[in-house]
Amino acid sequence: MVATYRKLPNNNSHPSTSPAIKPHSPDQNQLSHSTPTTTMVKAIIVHQHGGPEALKYEDVELGEPKEGQIRLKHKAIGLNFLDVYMRKGLYNTSPPLPYTPGLEGSGVVTAVGPGVTTCKVGDLVAYGTLPVGAYAEERLLPADRAVPVPSGVDAVQAASVIFKGLTAQVLIRSSFKVERGHTILVHAAAGGVGSLLCQWTNAIGATVIGTVSTKEKAVQAKEDGCHHVILYKDENFVDRVMEITSGKGGSFEVLKKRGYMVQFGMASGEPDPIPSSTLSGKALFYTFSAMGVYTEERHELLAAAEDLFTNVANGVLKIRVNHKYPLSQAAQAHTDLEARKTTGSVVLIPDGE
Ligand SMILES: NC(=O)c1ccc[n+]([C@@H]2O[C@H](COP(=O)([O-])OP(=O)(O)OC[C@H]3O[C@@H](n4cnc5c(N)ncnc54)[C@H](OP(=O)(O)O)[C@@H]3O)[C@@H](O)[C@H]2O)c1
Repeated sequence: MVATYRKLPNNNSHPSTSPAIKPHSPDQNQLSHSTPTTTMVKAIIVHQHGGPEALKYEDVELGEPKEGQIRLKHKAIGLNFLDVYMRKGLYNTSPPLPYTPGLEGSGVVTAVGPGVTTCKVGDLVAYGTLPVGAYAEERLLPADRAVPVPSGVDAVQAASVIFKGLTAQVLIRSSFKVERGHTILVHAAAGGVGSLLCQWTNAIGATVIGTVSTKEKAVQAKEDGCHHVILYKDENFVDRVMEITSGKGGSFEVLKKRGYMVQFGMASGEPDPIPSSTLSGKALFYTFSAMGVYTEERHELLAAAEDLFTNVANGVLKIRVNHKYPLSQAAQAHTDLEARKTTGSVVLIPDGE
C-alpha cells in the first residue's frame, strides 16, 4: 500500500482537464469521494520530475487508515539523497507522478486501521521505508513498517537516523560483518550514512578510512572516528589508501585479496559495468546493499532498529542533526543537499511544530 493524496482543485495551476493528484492505483488510494472523514494537511507534491523547484508545498486531503495502516502526525522528517534521485526521475524505484516524496520520519500515531496490533494511538514511532509520503504534516503508513521509538531517543533524532541508520546497520552487520581489525573505506564519510558508518565501525574496532570533498567535512569525519581522512579532490584516493594500508589494498584497486566492495548508493551516477576479470584476479566480492531487502520481514526490521536505537541511546552513535528546515522549505533543503553543502542528517520539521 502506498500513502497517496488527492489534491484540492486548484484552478490556476491545474485546469480541470489535468487532474491533480491521482491515486497510485485504486487500492493504494487513501480516499474516495465518498469518504466522510478527511483531514486537510500540508504536504510537498512532485507533479513533474525536475530540480528542487519541482517540490510544491500544497494542501491535500488525507483519509482514514485502512486495513493494516496507521495515520501518523509527523514530528520530523528525514531528508535522504534517494529523495533527490526520485525527484529527478532517475532512480528505478521512482514513484509514479504525482507523488509526495520522503522515506523517513517520526511521529505520533493518530489513528489505526482495522487489524493493526503493532501500535496504538498516541505511540511515538519511526520509519525508514517505502512507500514514499514522508514530506507531509500527516500521512498514512503500513503499520508493520513503523517501529517504536524507545525512551532515550527523541523524535528528531529518530527521524534523522532511522533510514540512514538502518542502512548503516545492514551494511556493517549483514552485507559484510565488520569486525575488530578490519580496514574499511567509506566514501562520502561526512554524509548522513557516512557519518554513522564511521562512528559505528570505529566503535567496533575497525580501521576507518574516509573520503570527503572539503576540509570542513574532513573535520567532521575525524570527529566521527575516521582514522584517515582523504580529501579526494586534492589527493588520489587509491594512492593514499595503498599508502595507509602499506600496499595491502590493491584496487578494485583499493581492495585486498578476497576483499569486499559494498556499494550502497550512486550519488554521482550509475558506475561503469564491472567485468568479472576485475573480480577474479583477487577473488573479490561485489554487492549492492539494499537496506529494504534486508529488513523486509518484520522481525528483521525490529532487530535492526533495536540494534540501531540501542547504539544511539548508549552514545556510540551521535546523531548530527546539522540542518533543520521547515517542511515548506523542502526545495531549499534539496538545493543545499545537492550542492554538497550539508553534513550529517538533514531534517524537515512540519511548519508550526
Ligand atoms: N542501499 C541503501 O539501502 C541505501 C539507503 C539509504 C541511502 N543510500 C545511499 O547512501 C548514499 C548517502 O545517502 P545520504 O542520504 O546519507 O546522503 P549524504 O551522504 O548526506 O549526501 C551525499 C554525499 O555524497 C557525496 N556525493 C557524491 N556525489 C555527489 C553528487 N553528485 N552530488 C552531491 N553529493 C555527492 C557528497 O559528499 P562529498 O562532498 O564528501 O563527496 C555528499 O555530501 C546515497 O547515495 C544514498 O542513495 C542507500
